[in-house]
Amino acid sequence: MRFSASFSVLFAFVSYAAAQSAEWGQCGGIGWTGATTCVSGTVCTELNSYYSQCLPGTATTAPSGGSSTTSAASAPSSTATVGLAVAAKAAGKTYFGSATDNPELTDTAYVTILNQTSEFMQLTPGNSMKWDATEPEQGVFDFSGGDQVVNLAKANGQLVRGHNCVWYNQLPSWVSGGSFTAAELTSIVQTHCSTIVSHWAGDIYSWDVINEPFNDDGTWRSDVFYNTLGTDYVPLALQAARAADPNAKLYINDYNIEGSGAKATAMLNLIKSLQSQGVPIDGVGFQCHFIVGELPSTLQTNIEAFTALGIELAITELDIRMTLPATDALLEQQKQDYQTVIGACNAVEGCIGVTIWDYTDKYSWVPSTFSGQGAACPWDENFVRKPAYDGIVAGFQS
Ligand code: G3I
Repeated sequence: MRFSASFSVLFAFVSYAAAQSAEWGQCGGIGWTGATTCVSGTVCTELNSYYSQCLPGTATTAPSGGSSTTSAASAPSSTATVGLAVAAKAAGKTYFGSATDNPELTDTAYVTILNQTSEFMQLTPGNSMKWDATEPEQGVFDFSGGDQVVNLAKANGQLVRGHNCVWYNQLPSWVSGGSFTAAELTSIVQTHCSTIVSHWAGDIYSWDVINEPFNDDGTWRSDVFYNTLGTDYVPLALQAARAADPNAKLYINDYNIEGSGAKATAMLNLIKSLQSQGVPIDGVGFQCHFIVGELPSTLQTNIEAFTALGIELAITELDIRMTLPATDALLEQQKQDYQTVIGACNAVEGCIGVTIWDYTDKYSWVPSTFSGQGAACPWDENFVRKPAYDGIVAGFQS
């Protein structure tokens, strides 16, 4: 009898232990029939109505109904019930998407959310289509990183933005340090753009053919391309891209052109000049790497000015950073700022889509570039949705 009672207790314990999900395991969501509690040291966190996950941490509120489900600790959190891509589609936009990068694709918890087409209908490889990754030695091409992102997007039915053909940064030294004649560099640019665009032809919605050509005062950036070819490198690259994939939308992408000013004017003039010469140009990318509380006041009128040229416009790299630590007040202002940016795009038909420059603070580029700043994304580093998420939804519903 004593033995039997002990066995019952042991059996009950084993059953309970087996009923707990492991760290990063699923613990709830519509249709989920498995364990709804998590192993010690993790908390069942609702990521959306279809997926709750055991994330590292401890519950800050008493579990209700025997479950250890909680939302974003004590910080203000998201309560929206619609996915970001669903909200964008309902607003008539072509997509809502996220940048991603190859090292992150080994993070199961990260990929689980990235794969959700209710959130992301589009991906941009953050690094793996750049020149240093795709043509590290002259004539030696490596498509492996870009293929990985494209194949993931195809499996999910997500669009892809190609990023990028010609940029002053992340160039291999054989390009940045080369000493070329105009004829040599013309051939190099044509070969590079033509080869990478044709490799992914049919799989890419739009290409950032030219990235960041201007200084902040609107003058041309001094780099190997401009210094050797003058402004001719722009039409050269666009024409090579068009020939390589006639169906991809061809963009020029830049930052600090989101509000009116010298740099935006330079970009408007470049697009008008290309159009007058019959050079293919389909769109402009507003990167939108913003700071909480410091949005350009002319964002919407500037979107209108660019789309009035008959091109489409996309918000290509949105994030809104803050000085850490993230306070409730900063998170609330960030929510308002995301809503303002999305609302500006929503108000103009020619603004066709929005990409955030990765969706989680865990993989944001911001902290390593701006010391003491971060928390720029709509999901925090534990994959919990922030108020910013609700700001995006509200922007698409405005
Ligand atoms: O590939 C090397 C790796 O071999 C090395 O071990 C590692 C050590 O730090 O560095 C790796 O390179 C890093 C690269 O990302 C790939 O991870 C570089 O140091 C790092 O500087 C680079 O940062 C990228 C940055 O562009 C470079 O300018 C960011 O991830 C990427 O998000 C960022 O994206 C840019 C857009 O392309 C254009 N607009 C601005 C945006 C933010 O800077």
